[in-house]
Amino acid sequence: MTADHDDREPDFARAAEALKWATKVAVLTGAGVSAESGVPTFRASDGLWEGHRIEDVATPMGFEANPELVWRFYNGRRVNVAKVNPNPGHHALVKLEQRYGDGFAIATQNVDGLHQRAGSKTVFEVHGSLHRTRCINCEKVEDRGLEDLGNRPLCPHCGGFLRPDIVWFHEPLPEDIWMRAMVAAEECDVFLVVGTSAVVYPAASVIPIAKANGATVVECNLTRTDASHAADVGLYGPSGQTLPKLLAKLS
Ligand code: OAD
Repeated sequence: MTADHDDREPDFARAAEALKWATKVAVLTGAGVSAESGVPTFRASDGLWEGHRIEDVATPMGFEANPELVWRFYNGRRVNVAKVNPNPGHHALVKLEQRYGDGFAIATQNVDGLHQRAGSKTVFEVHGSLHRTRCINCEKVEDRGLEDLGNRPLCPHCGGFLRPDIVWFHEPLPEDIWMRAMVAAEECDVFLVVGTSAVVYPAASVIPIAKANGATVVECNLTRTDASHAADVGLYGPSGQTLPKLLAKLS
């Protein structure tokens, strides 16, 4: 064994082999893909939910009870995301899209917009977007960038109260986007599960859907997760390293 021997080589080779045969590839991403950009994940010991009760900042009831607190939380996230950049994991997914074209789609649970900033084209944001606001009166959805909107922003059109266009707990996923994510999972030959704990449903249900439809499931995460039992191959390590390494094996 040499000093640069990597025990994970056979796993990378298997994943690369599956990708070489694939014509359709779908991806589910979670907070872990943005971790190396400096966006905190949710369930880590220093994660976003630490110090916040989910019910207070990520449910419609929490917003009704204390909209200022909810806006403070999301303004903080908006301002943080404005300061960071996509990392090599995001860029590797852009390259994969260039390889598979229309046969490639990302379903992301992330609301940070970093896939699009990296250059990914087909991105289904199943949990909404930090960039967007939605008026609770006229329901107009708008891209408001990432600046701090203040603690009680109002709709510039009707004067109603704005909320972040984020899917909160107890709310349904946007139907059209979710349908497209499910179709991509059903039709793909390879399904990559990147940087998600895979504990939040229905988003995580695309993993068994892909598996049941015959896809090779490849998990890219720091550790094993709830998705690992469905994975045919696990590439464990930071996705900013594992995804570029996988990509390099395709050329
Ligand atoms: P979590 O915080 O639950 O999980 C992040 C995952 O990323 C964990 O499995 C980590 O091991 C992994 N991870 C961390 N750093 C990584 C790295 N550099 N490379 C690869 N993997 C890494 O975040 P999500 O699974 O995205 O929903 O959470 C799902 C949903 O729960 C979120 O969309 C959010 C949250 O509640 C809403 O807000 C509606």
